[in-house]
Amino acid sequence: MLLYERLAGSLRGQIARGALRAGERLPSIRQLALGHGLSAATAVQACLQLEREGLVVARPRSGYYVRAAVPPPPAAKPPRRRVPGAVNNPALQEVLDMLARSDVLPLHSATPSPALLPQAALTAALSRSLRHHPAAVLDYAPPQGLPALRRQIARRYAQLGAAVSPDEIVITAGAMEGISLALRTLAEPGDVVLVETPTYHGILQAVAALRLKVLEVPNLPGQGIDVARLDQLLQQNRVRAAVLVPNFNNPLGSVTGDAAKQALLASCARHGTVVIEDDVYGDLAWSGERPSPLRRWDTRGNLISCGSFSKSLSPGLRLGWIAAGAWTDALVRAKYFSTVGAASLPQLAMAEYLQKHDLERHLRRLRRALADNAQRLHEAISRHWPAGTRASEPRGGLSLWLQLPEGGDGQMLFEAALEQGIGTSPGVLFSSRGDYGDCLRLSCGMPWDARLEQALKKLGQLAARQLA
Ligand SMILES: Cc1ncc(COP(=O)(O)O)c(C=O)c1O
Repeated sequence: MLLYERLAGSLRGQIARGALRAGERLPSIRQLALGHGLSAATAVQACLQLEREGLVVARPRSGYYVRAAVPPPPAAKPPRRRVPGAVNNPALQEVLDMLARSDVLPLHSATPSPALLPQAALTAALSRSLRHHPAAVLDYAPPQGLPALRRQIARRYAQLGAAVSPDEIVITAGAMEGISLALRTLAEPGDVVLVETPTYHGILQAVAALRLKVLEVPNLPGQGIDVARLDQLLQQNRVRAAVLVPNFNNPLGSVTGDAAKQALLASCARHGTVVIEDDVYGDLAWSGERPSPLRRWDTRGNLISCGSFSKSLSPGLRLGWIAAGAWTDALVRAKYFSTVGAASLPQLAMAEYLQKHDLERHLRRLRRALADNAQRLHEAISRHWPAGTRASEPRGGLSLWLQLPEGGDGQMLFEAALEQGIGTSPGVLFSSRGDYGDCLRLSCGMPWDARLEQALKKLGQLAARQLA
């Protein structure tokens, strides 16, 4: 193959794969020649070849541009490799794919709609940070995180009655990274980890990815973690760690009461099981009565607390934390070897936002909106869904958990809904054993509108059709 043909082939491939898109300029002749170690004449020849094929057009004194009508990218996706040890439900990949799609109504996503976030205040904090701290923005932040942000998080714990020092806080890319780092630090492949059932599928994935074994303790609607069962399981098994979501468990929305929280901490300490608390939803108590983090009741130092701003301020800034206690040094090291440190700009901006703004005021508004959304969802479900559909009655968080009447199949409903452009999360994702096949989780993070009403109606029709 001649040199110019090879270069033309490379550019053709980039156009076909969408790396170079319609209307975009090709690299200049000089860049092409330098980049590929060719002469300028050869680069020109390659561009002329693509022009003859109708893939690019020349614009005088500007360069070559990809033509508007280009062949569509290949339809078939490359085959997917099975990831050993991961929870291999095909629906999980579809849920992950949905996160990248803007044409799906995001009822699958347990995040507040951007319309409910303090956009103006956060973007102002971001641009002020850029203007005032350009060098810090472009530099690594310390592996443990910026002291100003760690101080703000420690203050928030103090407001909740929990004594946390800024020195034991490690800033992470969301709570999910905190949980993964904590598990990696505490457990070795083959160790047993206790989780709730049902629980957030991200936790199940993190546990599976580290080749840890899962033990499930029931979380009961309206009651929270079954502490008696937890104690029994810890007696019968050597369990290294327990990853628990005591406040507004995802997907049930249930809260574990204060007495049960204290009992579970005592039981875990007795059996040598370290508790990893995931409190991402604690601030979203719709009544405003925030349930305590486990940290408030911890007297034994047997706890690692993970939290995040994803559910209250911004999932996209990817900011979470670990209050790591005795494991602080180990977790700072783990963070360093994972990503060196959290990104500087979001940390600077979040610290400024928390210093200058009244978080409680924003939370009051957000909680009211979520409670209202949940109420509307309930009403629409009772209007449009088959009789016998059961819906959870959470008092906080971002999720509604639905159980279909006898014969209903959550995964089939999920597939049918996706074909109609409606995202949902099938129940099977929330168990390591494939339980909850007749369940579905919906998000209450989107303000009510006609589109949602239509979507709920459509979902009800699909559910009814399935049962028929
Ligand atoms: C219980 C639970 N923990 C953690 C996360 C992830 O949070 P983050 O965005 O802070 O990583 C989620 C997200 O849905 C969740 O439901």
